[in-house]
Amino acid sequence: MNKLALRGSLFYVRDDPFLNPPEDCAVYEPDGIIVIEGGKISGVGGAAEILPALPDDVEVRRHARSILMPGFVDAHIHYPQVEIIGSYGTQLLEWLNKYTFPTEAKFNDEAHAKRIAEFFVAELFRNGTTSASVFCTSAPGSVRAIFEAAQARNMLILAGKMMMDSHAPPAILDTAQSSYDDSKTLIERWRRRGRCLYTVTPRFALTSSPRQLELAGALMHEFADVRLQSHISENLAEIARAKELYPQREHYTDIYEYYGLLDERAIYGHGVHLSEEELRRFHETGANIAHCPTSNFFIGSGLFDIAKTKAERRPVTVGLGTDVGGGTSFSMLQTMNEAYKMAQLRKISLTAIQSFYLATLGSAQALGIADRVGTLAVGHDADIIALDPRATPLLELRSEVAESFEELLFALMICADDRAVEATYVAGEAVYLRASA
Ligand code: GUN
Ligand code: ZN
Repeated sequence: MNKLALRGSLFYVRDDPFLNPPEDCAVYEPDGIIVIEGGKISGVGGAAEILPALPDDVEVRRHARSILMPGFVDAHIHYPQVEIIGSYGTQLLEWLNKYTFPTEAKFNDEAHAKRIAEFFVAELFRNGTTSASVFCTSAPGSVRAIFEAAQARNMLILAGKMMMDSHAPPAILDTAQSSYDDSKTLIERWRRRGRCLYTVTPRFALTSSPRQLELAGALMHEFADVRLQSHISENLAEIARAKELYPQREHYTDIYEYYGLLDERAIYGHGVHLSEEELRRFHETGANIAHCPTSNFFIGSGLFDIAKTKAERRPVTVGLGTDVGGGTSFSMLQTMNEAYKMAQLRKISLTAIQSFYLATLGSAQALGIADRVGTLAVGHDADIIALDPRATPLLELRSEVAESFEELLFALMICADDRAVEATYVAGEAVYLRASA
C-alpha cells in the first residue's frame, strides 16, 4: 500500500474552546508532517520528530505555502437547493413556497438529481469541505444520487430522504407510511456502504403530520446507527405555526422530544429563538444544533446567540452549517466570517480558535463523527485540506503584518473563501487541487 506524507504548517483543534482553556484546545506546528496509510492518519507531528523515522518509500508532498488542517465539516446543507442560492426578497415561509419547493420538485427526475449531486460534491471539495450533513428531497432517487456521488469519491457523508407529508405542493409530498417505508429501504441499503451514514430527515414540524413524526421516531428506535436532522426555531412565523399545529406541546422542542426525536444523534438547524428551557432540553438529551449564520442573515431570521447556547451552566453542542440554498456560500470560511459578525451584534467576539472549532471538530461532534474526522489524530480518517493564507493579493498584504499565527487565522476566516483552498484530501486521496497548486 502506498504511503503518503503531507508536509506544511499544521493547525487543528482537539477540544471545545468554549468550555476549556483555548491554549489546551488548539495545536499549531510551523513545520509539520501528516503520514497517511490506507486512508487514515498513521502519524502526525513536527517534521523534526517524524521525518527521521519515515521509511524511504513514503512520498513526502510539500504544501509549503499552506496550512494543513482537518477538512471542514458542514453540519447543515441542502443539495437540491443549489440552483436557488441567492434568491431575492423573502423570509422563511414565503421563501420555501416561492423558491424551495418548486426547485425540489425537479428532483423527481433522477437525471437532474445526478447532475446536481455531482456538481454539489465537487463544489464542497473546491471549498475544502470534506464531510457534510445533507438534506435531499422527498424523492428516494435524490438520496441515491447524492450517496452515489459521495461514494464514488469515498467521502464521509450524512444524508437522508426528506420526510414531508403536509402543507407543501403535492409533487414533493410523501405520506407518513411511504416516508417510513422509503426511509427504511434507504437505511438498509446505505447505512453501511463506504463512508455513507443515513440521517432520518423530517423537514420540520410544519410539514409533518403527528403520524409522520411518530414514524420518524420509530425509525430512530429501530436503527441505533442512524442520525436525525431537521429544523427548529429559525423564524418567528414558523414558531407560531408550529404552536398552532401542535397545541398540546409545551414548546417547539417539546414537539420533537415527544415523538422521540431529541437525543444525541439529532442535529437541528438554526435554533435562533430557542428559550432557556428549550436549550436545557437540548443539553440534557445531548441533542445538537447547526448554526447557519449566512442563512439567518440572508432570510432575515434573527441573530443566533452562541454565548447563550454554549453557556457553561448547560452547554449545547453546536456545529456550523452553510444551509445552502438559504445560506449564501459553500465556503465554511465565509460562514465563519458571518458567524463572527452575528456574534459581534450580540457583543461577543468569537476567537479564531472558537470559529475553526465550530467549522471542524464542533460540527463533527454535533454529527457524531468526531471519532473519525474533525481533528488531526492517529487513527482518524485522512480528510485534510491545505489552506493558503496568501491566496489573493489582499490576503498576501494582510498576512505580511500578522503578528501571530492566530491573527493570520483570523484574517483568513474573515477575508478568504474558496480561492484559499489549495488542496482537498479525502481518505488520503487528493480530490481537489487548485489550478496553481
Ligand atoms: N425549514 C424547513 N425547511 C427549510 C429549508 O429548506 N431551509 C431553511 N433554511 N429552513 C427550513
Ligand atoms: Zn436547512
